[in-house]
Amino acid sequence: MKIPQTKIDEISSSLDIVDVISAYTPLRKAGRSFMGRCPFHEEKTPSFSVSQEKGVYHCFGCGKSGNMFTFIMDTENMTFFDAVKLLADKANVTTEFEDEPYDPDKNKIELYYDINRKAGKYFYDKLMSREGAYAKEYLNERGLKDDTITKFGLGYSPRDKDALFREFENDFTTEDLQNAGVVLVLGAGEIRDRFRGRLMFPIFNESGKVVGFGGRRMYDEATEEAKYINSPETRIYNKSKTLYGLNFAKGPIKQKGFAILVEGYMDLISLYQNGIENVVASSGTSLTQLHTKILHRYTREVVVVYDADLAGQNASRRAIEILIENDISVSILELPFGDDPDTYIKKNGLSGFEHLLANRLSVIDYIAERYESDGKMNSPEGKTEFVREIIGLIAKMRDAIKRDFYVKGIAEKFSIYESIIRKELESVLKVKSRPQYNERELLNEKSAAPVKEKNTKFSAVELVLIRLLVDSDAQTKQMLMNELELDLVKNDTVRKIVNYLMMNIDSPEKLALNQLFTEFQDEEAKSVIGKSLLDDNYVMQAGKNRNYLNEAKQVLSQLKLTNIKNTIKEIEARIKSIDSTSPDILQLLTEQQTLRREQMQIENSMKSL
Ligand code: UTP
Ligand code: MN
Repeated sequence: MKIPQTKIDEISSSLDIVDVISAYTPLRKAGRSFMGRCPFHEEKTPSFSVSQEKGVYHCFGCGKSGNMFTFIMDTENMTFFDAVKLLADKANVTTEFEDEPYDPDKNKIELYYDINRKAGKYFYDKLMSREGAYAKEYLNERGLKDDTITKFGLGYSPRDKDALFREFENDFTTEDLQNAGVVLVLGAGEIRDRFRGRLMFPIFNESGKVVGFGGRRMYDEATEEAKYINSPETRIYNKSKTLYGLNFAKGPIKQKGFAILVEGYMDLISLYQNGIENVVASSGTSLTQLHTKILHRYTREVVVVYDADLAGQNASRRAIEILIENDISVSILELPFGDDPDTYIKKNGLSGFEHLLANRLSVIDYIAERYESDGKMNSPEGKTEFVREIIGLIAKMRDAIKRDFYVKGIAEKFSIYESIIRKELESVLKVKSRPQYNERELLNEKSAAPVKEKNTKFSAVELVLIRLLVDSDAQTKQMLMNELELDLVKNDTVRKIVNYLMMNIDSPEKLALNQLFTEFQDEEAKSVIGKSLLDDNYVMQAGKNRNYLNEAKQVLSQLKLTNIKNTIKEIEARIKSIDSTSPDILQLLTEQQTLRREQMQIENSMKSL
C-alpha cells in the first residue's frame, strides 16, 4: 500500500505531536520543547524531549527519535501503514489509499541481501562437498585452516554454466538474480552464472551481510581469464564504500588504535589467521575517498602494507595521498621485494610480521627511501624533487598544526632551511584554488553568501550543517536537534535534506551516503548531498582538535545572523519605499533597532566560541 505524501502531510499538520505523545507519557513544557519520561526505556528523570514546532521527539537517554508516525509504530508495534491509519482516524482525515505495494524498493534490497546470503551458503556447501574437494585442497595447500574457511565463508562455484541459476530459479526471478549480481543474462537471452569454477570470497558489508563476491581462478595460472572476477556494483554493493574485512576488524581496530590496510582478500585472511585482526582491504577497486572516510570513523591511524612490487608501490603511493587528505596518519610497512602480506607472514610468522610493524616507516622516510634506492638523493636535483613531493603531500593535510610539525621535521632531517620549505608549501597551498571554508572565514559574511552553481543557491553554512548532522558526535547532534529552527535554512533543497536527517538521526544506516542518494532522487538534492558530504571544502575545522559542538554552535549563530541581516535589509527597503511621514516609520525603525541589537549579541557570542 503506498500512502501519498500529501496524505501524510495532511495528517501531521492536523495533529499536534505533543497531543499524540501525551496520551502515552505526560509531557511538560521546558524551554523550547516539552519534556517527559521516555516511553521507550525505564527512567526516573525525564530525558524525552518533544519539539512541537518541529513535530519530532528525541530521547537523550536511549537515543530514540522520530516523528508522530514512528512514535505510534514503536509504541503500538504497528507497521507504518497502520500507524498512518490510526493517526488519520484521530485527525479525521479520510484514508482511501491506492492499492500498491508499500515501498517496493525497500523490499528489493532485502531480497538482494537474501540472494547473496543464500549464494554464499550455496558456494560454501559446494566447497565442502565432493565437487569442491579440489578447491578445498587448494585452500588447505595455501595454508588456510578449516576454521578460517568457515569464518570467512569461503566457497566454490561449480564449473557448469548455470548450476546456481538452476538451483535458485524456482525461488527467485531471473531479473532479481541478475540485479543481485549472481547471474548474467547474455545477448541471446542465455542465462549464465557469473562465477564458474572459482574459489569464492564473500564480501561483507560493515554489519556483516554478504553483498557480493570475489571469485578467484585456481591453479590454471596460464589462462587468459582474470585472476579475480568480482560482483558488479548493485543496490547493496558499492565498491567505493566497501572495505573487505571491516565487519571483523572493527573491534580489533578500535582496540589496537590503528588499522592495517592490505590489497588482497588472501592477504587479509592470512594475516587474520596468524593473529593480525585489525586489517582491512579495499575490494575489487583501489582505495577511495569514501573508504577512508569510513575508516576515519574507527581510527586516525593506518598502516599501509601493499605488495612489494611496482604495482604495489604505486598503489600505496595513491593510498597514502588519499589517507592524508582525509586526516589520517599514515605509515608504511615495507615487505621484502616479491612478498605480499600473505607470503610474508606464512614464512616469518606473527613475530616476523610484528617486527616489521614495529619498524614501519613514516611517510617521509618511506618516500626518502624510495628516492634513495633510485639513487636520487645524491644529487641536488633529486633532493629538490624529493622535497617537492613531500611538500605536495604536506599541502594535502587539512590540519595546519600538523603541517607545521611536518615542515619542522623535514627541515631538521634533511638540513633545509625551514623558511624555504614554508615558502614552497605556501605557494602550493595557494595554487590549490578551491575555496577553503575554514573556521575564520565562516565567521565573516563571505561564506554565508550564496554559493552560486547551476541555478543552485545555498550557503556554505547550510552545507556544513548537513555534514554535522551526518558526521558529528552524539552530543552535537542532540544540540542541533534541540536548537535548530528549520525555517532558518533558506534553501528548499537543503531544508528538505536537513529535515530528513533530523528525522533519521538515530538510524545511521539511513544517513549513509548511498542511502541518501537513493532517498533523494532529484539532481539538485543529490548535488547538495554530494557537495556537503564529499567536498572537504565544507569542513570548518579539521584535525585532532576538531570540536563539532563548537562548529555546530557557529553554524546556528551564522544561520540566525543571516536571517536577521536579511530581515534588516527588508525593513530598510520598506522604509525607503514608504512616505517618510507615515506613522509606520517609527515602528519599523524600532524593529530594526531590536534586530541590530540581536545581531550584535550573536556576533559577540560568536567571538567567544
Ligand atoms: P592480488 O593479485 O595481490 O591477489 O590482488 P591476492 O588477493 O593476493 O590473491 P593471491 O594471493 O594471488 O591468491 C589483490 C586484490 O586485487 C583485486 C582483488 O581484490 C585482489 O584481492 N583484484 C586482483 C581484482 O579485483 N581482479 C584481479 O584480476 C586481480
Ligand atoms: Mn597474494
